Amino acid sequence: MELVDKIKAKARESVKRIVLPEGDEPRTVAAAKIIRDEGVAEPILLTKDLIETSSNKPKLDSYAAALFELRKAKGLTEEAAAKLATDPMYYGMMMVKLGDADGLVSGAVHSTGDMLRPALQIIKTAPGMKLVSSSFLMECPNHEIGENGLLVYADCVVNPCPNAEELANIAIATAETARKLCGIAEPRVAMLSFSTKGSASHALVDKVQEATRIARELAPDLALDGELQFDAALVPAVAAQKAPGSPVAGRANVLVFPDLQAGNIGYKITQRLGGAKCFAVLQGLAMPCNDLSRGCSVDDIVNTVAATAVQAG
Ligand code: ACO
Repeated sequence: MELVDKIKAKARESVKRIVLPEGDEPRTVAAAKIIRDEGVAEPILLTKDLIETSSNKPKLDSYAAALFELRKAKGLTEEAAAKLATDPMYYGMMMVKLGDADGLVSGAVHSTGDMLRPALQIIKTAPGMKLVSSSFLMECPNHEIGENGLLVYADCVVNPCPNAEELANIAIATAETARKLCGIAEPRVAMLSFSTKGSASHALVDKVQEATRIARELAPDLALDGELQFDAALVPAVAAQKAPGSPVAGRANVLVFPDLQAGNIGYKITQRLGGAKCFAVLQGLAMPCNDLSRGCSVDDIVNTVAATAVQAG
């Protein structure tokens, strides 16, 4: 069974309400029908017109008031909150925040930043999580690498320049996503660099070494090693030469990139040249909200909604 089929099967076990703020976008409308027909989730399509109907006014007013309370310390006025609440993205976030929906998927029209900012401001991080980041689930045609061809990459979407502590947190959150969403029983996390075990010296390498140390301290039971080059992480023969005795090298299934430039370029190379199928989820939010690529297909939306529903469970 492919990963998306496993995720859909899991989503069907407990049907979640997933809000789609781009409710008049044709791919989203088509996806909502499939989601409902397949029983993957209960989709809630939002449009500005629906939000502003007179029968919805009490709900809209209550969301505006709650939004004002949440953001007044950051300078949001009552008037601005009332206007923002009519924006389906903000209205959808408030539905999730106040328990009227279990998760949100958007991004067929909005840019990543336009979806991420309200999620970070309103939904915020889950208890115990220091930051929000992302995992890319990469299904590679070569089943000899990773977990039967599955690799989990991070962070390819959110944090432009994580420091060592943030990188350690990203590594631990990604291992958790690998376990919970992908069903990987033993995540093996490689902290990637252009150096393997001190083969190069540079401040950029120091950061990955420090992140490895912090992650080990925070999650002593997790199989995690660094710093490792991409080939040392994945290819057993290279691992045997460059990182002998490593519990991860040569058999990593979770790859943590040192920054967003590396991560974003890395996933696109794997997708475009390596032929991997992929999709992304955000991790670390108090409630699940996920971003789509503006080039997404109807299937991408269905799959991302299924993953969001599983995260909500
Ligand atoms: N985790 C948790 N909270 C965060 C994070 C984070 N990683 N980053 C920012 N925040 C919070 C801040 O604390 C702040 O909260 P507050 O207003 O309650 O104090 C709020 O989010 C806004 O923070 P800013 O620093 O003002 O954030 P900004 O709006 O400048 O940017 C953003 C945040 C949008 C996530 C930015 O980091 C970004 O643009 N990242 C890259 C997105 C992107 O373009 N990715 C690549 C393309 S996606 C793809 O190819 C699939």
